Amino acid sequence: MKLKNDLLIRTALGEKVERPPVWLMRQAGRILPQYRALRGKLSGFKELVETPHLAAEVTIQPVDELDVDAAIIFSDILVIPEAMGLTYEMVEKRGPLFPKTIQNAQDIAKLSSGAGAAANLQYVFDAIEITVKELDGRVPLIGFAGAPWTILAYMVEGSGSKTFSKAKKFLYQEPELAHQLLQKITDTTIAYLKLKVKSGVNLVQVFDSWAGILSPLQFRTFALPYLRQIASAIETVPVTVFAKGAWFAYQDLAEVDCNVIGIDWNTSPFYAKALLKDKVCQGNLDPCQLYGQPKDVEAAALKMVQDFGHKHIANLGHGVYPDTPLDNVRVFVDTIKRYQY
Ligand code: CP3
Repeated sequence: MKLKNDLLIRTALGEKVERPPVWLMRQAGRILPQYRALRGKLSGFKELVETPHLAAEVTIQPVDELDVDAAIIFSDILVIPEAMGLTYEMVEKRGPLFPKTIQNAQDIAKLSSGAGAAANLQYVFDAIEITVKELDGRVPLIGFAGAPWTILAYMVEGSGSKTFSKAKKFLYQEPELAHQLLQKITDTTIAYLKLKVKSGVNLVQVFDSWAGILSPLQFRTFALPYLRQIASAIETVPVTVFAKGAWFAYQDLAEVDCNVIGIDWNTSPFYAKALLKDKVCQGNLDPCQLYGQPKDVEAAALKMVQDFGHKHIANLGHGVYPDTPLDNVRVFVDTIKRYQY
């Protein structure tokens, strides 16, 4: 499918472009009234994720409503543990919950992995094919997966957590088992992302949402090697690595075989650019900035694009919060789209 707007892809490949492309992490979701209306008619989040034509519909909603430069396939990072044999529930207002968790060698041995596990996610590949057809080349489609450490964190902890101390305890007490589990997740994620590319996504992003709670040594030991494997395995489309909070690892991330590094709002554009060398940067406005006055949102968005300069994909430093005023999201997107280098 020929893309009519390929600004995101040209930027990710390091080409000189007229302005930064713009999209928002979590753009398909509760900020949009049309998402809330559809979601309200369903049994829950998982029905939406697992019904391809509905997942395609909500994927395209932010493109219609906000005119962003990319769509991101509507799904969740937790489909990977489920495909490996560990089912999750999405509890209203509380978030993910795993009724069973991973604690020992037998639990890990029972998990399936690689292409066999990834084949359980046909509903995602179907959603991608429908979305690509319906987008008709308007904008690129982003595919994504959780990074192995972040997926392990949910599989061991069993739910969200401020500290993920059970998951970190597992790294300290059972490092060999942790590596076995991380490798199984990595093999599944590589097979999954390759099938996503085959189904039509134009770029893939790996979310290491809990990278920042690791010590630098733990990050190097348990996160980085698996991020490297995934980035190197995806050869035909650009790859973005978003290791949230891992500013301490930028020198290592600069050496990963990926095109783009996601930057959160705790890092300055100057610091990121200096350490990430030739990588393209994505981010990094504080999502809470969008609660401010429209003129302040505009000023902050302009400062961000000026500070990053070329080789930049405009985005927030993490997902947009569900109660963000939609008009301010529009101000953010429109400010970037008016900007010219
Ligand atoms: O628009 C997009 O960015 C695509 C959709 C997307 C979702 N989840 C939909 C979703 C993406 C890229 C994700 C990734 C994801 N899921 C991450 C990594 C990114 C990040 O935020 O760090 C993580 C850690 C998860 C796990 C997860 N899923 C949590 C912790 C929650 C509950 C928190 C919440 O926002 O309610 C989810 C649920 C979820 N995933 C929702 C959406 C739109 C809300 C569910 C609903 O509609 O009720």
